[in-house]
Amino acid sequence: CGIVGVLGRHQAAPILVDALRRLEYRGYDSAGIATVEGGRLDRRRSPGKLVNLNDLLVHDPLSGTAGIGHTRWATHGAPTTMNAHPHARGRVAVVHNGIIENYRALRTFLESRQIVPETETDTETVAMLCNWYLDQGHDPVAAAKATVADLTGAYALCFLFEGEEDLLVAARKGSPLAIGWGEGEMYVGSDALALAPMTDQITYLEEGDIAVVTRAGAHFFDADQAPVERPRKTVTLDPGAIDKAGHRHFMAKEIAEQPEVLSHALTYYLDPCDGRRQLEAELDFSGIDRIVMVACGTASLACFVSKYWFEQIAGLPVEVDIASEFRYREPPLNARTLALFVSQSGETADTLAALRYCRGRAGKIVSIVNAAESSIARESDLALPILAGPEIGVASTKAFSCQLVVLAAMALQAARQTGTIDAGEDSRLSGLLRQVPGQVSAALALAPRVQAVSAQLARHADVLFLGRGPFYPIALEGALKLKEISYIHAEGYAAGELKHGPIALIDEEMPVVVLAPSGPLFDKVLSNIQEVLARAGKVVLVSDAEGLAAAGEGLWQTIEMPAIEGPFAAIAYVVPMQQLAYHTAVEKGTDVDQPRNLAKSVTVE
Ligand code: G6P
Repeated sequence: CGIVGVLGRHQAAPILVDALRRLEYRGYDSAGIATVEGGRLDRRRSPGKLVNLNDLLVHDPLSGTAGIGHTRWATHGAPTTMNAHPHARGRVAVVHNGIIENYRALRTFLESRQIVPETETDTETVAMLCNWYLDQGHDPVAAAKATVADLTGAYALCFLFEGEEDLLVAARKGSPLAIGWGEGEMYVGSDALALAPMTDQITYLEEGDIAVVTRAGAHFFDADQAPVERPRKTVTLDPGAIDKAGHRHFMAKEIAEQPEVLSHALTYYLDPCDGRRQLEAELDFSGIDRIVMVACGTASLACFVSKYWFEQIAGLPVEVDIASEFRYREPPLNARTLALFVSQSGETADTLAALRYCRGRAGKIVSIVNAAESSIARESDLALPILAGPEIGVASTKAFSCQLVVLAAMALQAARQTGTIDAGEDSRLSGLLRQVPGQVSAALALAPRVQAVSAQLARHADVLFLGRGPFYPIALEGALKLKEISYIHAEGYAAGELKHGPIALIDEEMPVVVLAPSGPLFDKVLSNIQEVLARAGKVVLVSDAEGLAAAGEGLWQTIEMPAIEGPFAAIAYVVPMQQLAYHTAVEKGTDVDQPRNLAKSVTVE
């Protein structure tokens, strides 16, 4: 899941492990490094966390100033030492992200030449093939290029060769890769964050690019293997962005940062700043009669919340779909359809594939991303940043709330352009949206209360979440967060669906978290609460003072939110959901920032 490479002046092993640590946020279940010294290629690999690899290196060090490293998230084959990267065959070692789709065919080809695999991985096939080309007399660069030309699938690769202490070959197709420029040193990384303390001079590889890297610099070749220039950029990454700033976990830090990052995003999209100018100049909703939103995971729930806004405020029909379903369904689109993709990483394989399906079919392709240099951003007609800053915790928090405010600002823009709101209503709704950071701040202050509720929830095996209107997708997000990081089984439902199934699960052991601010839908939800109470279910009501008073007796737990007017209230309600999941996970002692089996950026299908 994370790739690093270094051609340095100092020992490579500690530099590689350090860089891998900065990629830990992507999620992984084994790690390894390889170096060349005295012409000899050697490697160390270990299942589990980086601390295991470090222990191994203490007992069995690896020297050399040239090396590659990898954190692996298992796709083909279990997370064992044997399957961990780098994979090496003969004179080459390779690290790889993504999936080589034709690896079985390549294996058959190699096996017919008595070259037999030792692992279950597709990556080993790449090393085997490259070594075969070396055996055919190709030099290392030619062998790597020939290998890459034989591969189909989506991948990022970095090759290291025996006898070559001043050479790395990197290739990108479908999975991001960056080259870092240092003083007499060069680096490769799956993102700029991995290379942050070493250099801020970065060249991003384009689709199909190969980079031949030596300490003197890098040469780039495009998908047709023709030499090509790629720009070198200065990347500004706030060094504070990758430490925990006094918090116990990145997730806690990122939850706490929300008022600040939301303010940035709102200023950018509501005030006459670049974001608003860009929206007004490049996105004309008057020619659009339908929005199709596609995303995965938490990002898809942000889309779902915004459906309520686009439809109610701007009168624009919205379809929300998860990318893995959308991409194979062949949905009909036309020039009046706006295709909108939401992704924190901008690299999610299914979302990217869905975007490519829409190319040439939809009228316009717009994305909302956190990683401005990502594939999804680059392949969109218009890419709107959410300005959340790096999100390290695997479970998305501040990216979700920032996605929500960008979508809300877009809905207002759509309403202005389609004429569904007048100037007065526009300024009223914009004013309400500007209140969100303050409301989020007030919601953050409820942490001690939420923590007390979490201590209770941690003792249960299942939890239901209910909501209506935009609070329904927030309930889904509450359930998703809880299951992701505390491993408690949790389901979100539209409160009105309770009677159509989940009610059968209610007994005195079942906590039901209900999101229900006072307002037009409150009485409807109150009936659902009564249905739960009548079956001895344990209701956790998240509401304002008026709602809590109206709900009366019999509630198991309450969380009192500030009173919030208007359609954007749902945004602040995500905060207690995040904190509920966070404190429950802490209570249970699970790995909050890197929950088991999950990855931050899912670049495989
Ligand atoms: C993974 C992450 C989620 C995220 C989803 C979509 O499952 O663990 O937190 O919501 O991918 O990722 P994206 O980068 O496209 O928003």
